[in-house]
Order: sequence, then structure tokens, then C-alpha cells
Amino acid sequence: MSRAYRICVIPGDGIGKEVTPEAVRVLEAAASSFGFELGLDVLPWGSEYYLRDGRMMPENGHEVLANSEATLFGAVGSLEVPDTITAWGLILSTRQKLDLYLNLRPIRSFPVTETHVGPRYQEPYDMLIVRENTEGEYVGLGGRLYGGTDREMASQVSVFTRHSIDRAVDYAFRAVPPRGLLTSVTKSNALPHTMGLWDEVSEDVAGRYPEQRWERMHVDAAAYQMVRAPQRFDVLVASNLFGDILSDVGAGLQGSLGLAASGNINPEQKIGIFEPIHGSAPDIAGKGIANPFGSVSSAAMLLDFIGEEAAAESVRAAVDDCLTAGVATADLGGTCSTTEVGDELVTRLTASSRS
Ligand code: NAI
Ligand code: MG
Repeated sequence: MSRAYRICVIPGDGIGKEVTPEAVRVLEAAASSFGFELGLDVLPWGSEYYLRDGRMMPENGHEVLANSEATLFGAVGSLEVPDTITAWGLILSTRQKLDLYLNLRPIRSFPVTETHVGPRYQEPYDMLIVRENTEGEYVGLGGRLYGGTDREMASQVSVFTRHSIDRAVDYAFRAVPPRGLLTSVTKSNALPHTMGLWDEVSEDVAGRYPEQRWERMHVDAAAYQMVRAPQRFDVLVASNLFGDILSDVGAGLQGSLGLAASGNINPEQKIGIFEPIHGSAPDIAGKGIANPFGSVSSAAMLLDFIGEEAAAESVRAAVDDCLTAGVATADLGGTCSTTEVGDELVTRLTASSRS
């Protein structure tokens, strides 16, 4: 019996529409090389959909995504629609609604050539940032008062629950490679209530893994150490906001936001939405120069998630081969267009399946 998967694809806005088709070509090449079938459901959701229908996605959108094997998402964000609508109307609400409580962001050093513009390190690094993805600082609670007066005020409330901290930290403990280190990132000196609870729950979870090496670190120190000594980390677990910021630090280490991949997952319910960590990049949209490696690496994570690990590994190898050969877009100092990078990836994937 051949393996077949139903995959939703949401290119979204801006460069999401440019990088996602390249990741789709890579997925299709991997499927044909590794003998499985993909039923792709390309969904036109995003800002244009909003300008026409008054919503970012149809009412049953979450069900559509929940009923697929996995989703590949691009980015949303448009100069014509406020960011609060684009972000909450699609990706942030979906993370909550489908209880995608983990945001996984692998950060590893890539083989780089003279095209690389990021910092260089003697030793390679490979870390996973596990970001709590449903609550914390991004619950959307709060409000404004006395708008337009000199008494104007705003509040933005963070919510941390034992339940959500526990399941994120527990996943992170289980994700640490043999002999690896877990780093729980907080800021409990300045935020004693919420981050204090995080520290207590982490201690409790650590009690379930008595053999596992782990440490606590404040987020400012973690940002510093990620730049100074990225090799010291294996798995970091952090709240929604801290995980978001640290993974952009990680993307800077790698050399470009355009390289970094992520997955929003609920492992028990087997729902996964995979997306590059960058946004819609209106400053470069429409020019055909966006870096597709982040989207392609997200597609590799998707392949792991649906159980096609060999295909995922070959996609990562093709990415490495391209970067080693200097196949890169302008953000990395290269001269390739988005589609040229896609062409090179597909060529390598097809060649590796023949050899
Ligand atoms: P951004 O990630 O879109 O862009 C930041 C900078 O990185 C820009 O200079 C951009 O040109 C560059 N960049 C990003 N991805 C790149 C790629 N693949 N190749 C080459 N260069 C790349 O973040 P920004 O500017 O803060 O936000 C732009 C829009 O995207 C906003 O509307 C924002 O709300 C939205 N956004 C959406 C996200 C999502 O859909 N998950 C995540 C982050 C932002
Ligand atoms: Mg971000």
C-alpha cells in the first residue's frame, strides 16, 4: 500500500506566497523520490481573503486544518490590513483553538561559504527552542482606557497556568538528546509571580527526570549566551514571548531570518502547522528574492511529523548541499532568486534518489 497524506498549504501574504511554492515543489520531489503521495489542499487564506470576505479564513478553517495530516503555512501581514487582524485572524487564534501548545524552533549552524553574512563559530551548534505556544504573554488579554487623553493607559495581561507550563517543560525534558542539557529560560527575579510559577513547575517536572541535566537561566543571560557560546545549549524551553525573541536571536546566529524553521504542534492530537519564523516581509515582497530555506526546512519538519523521516533527512541534506555550494539569496550575500534556489533543491533531491 502506498503511503498518502493530506496536507493543507496556506501561502498567506507577501513573501509567504513566494517561498511556500518552492517548499511545495521540494515536498513533491521528496514524495516522488521516497514513494509516498501528497494530497495538497492549497488554501487562499490571508489578507486578500480578508479584504474580500471580512475574515482571514473561513469559519470552519480550524476544522479544515485539524482534519489534515499537517499544514504548511507561509506568513501573514499586509500594509492594507492591521497586524492585529492578520495575526489574530489566522495564526495566533489557530494556535489557541487547536491547542498547538508547542512551538518548536530548531537552530543549527549551517555549512557556510563566503556568501554567509552571519557570525561564524569554530564549533557547530545545534539547539532546539521549545516555546510555550498557547498562553503566557500572548493570550491577548488586556485593554486601553482614556484613549487620546493624558490619562491614557494600557494593560496587557500575561497568563501562566501549571497545566501549560508542565506540558511544555515536560516535552522539552523528553526532547533533550543523550547527555544533553535542558535550559529553562525565565526572568523570575523581575517577574516573580508568573516566572516564579514557571520555576516551581519546572522543578516539579525535573523531579520526573532525575537523571536529566538541567539548569535555569534568565532570558537576558540566555540571549547573551546564545550569541557568545551557542554550542553550550541543547534544548531551551521558554514562554511564548521569550521563546519568540530567542528564536529570532537564533535566526540571527544562523545568518538570516529567512533560514529559520518552526512547527506549531499538538503531539497528542497529531496536529501540526509548520512555518518559517519570518513574516511577510513587505520590504522585499514581489521581488522574487526571498530566501526559501526557512520554508523548505519547515517542510522538512513537516515530513518528520508525518513519519517520513528519511525524506526529511534528504531535504535537510539538500539544503546543506546548496548552502555549501553557495546557492543563496541576497539576505545571505548570494545572487540566486527564490525560484533558482527551489530549482537547485529539486535537482539535488531528484539526483540523490537516483544515486
Ligand atoms: P519579517 O520577518 O517579515 O521581516 C523582517 C526583516 O527580515 C525584513 O527586512 C525582511 O525583508 C527580512 N526577511 C524576512 N524573511 C526573509 C526571507 N525569507 N528572505 C529574505 N529576507 C527576509 O518581519 P516584520 O518586518 O516585523 O513584519 C512584516 C509583516 O509580517 C508584519 O505584518 C508582521 O505582522 C508579519 N509577521 C507575520 C508572521 C507570521 O505570519 N507568522 C511572523 C512575523 C511577522
Ligand atoms: Mg517572531
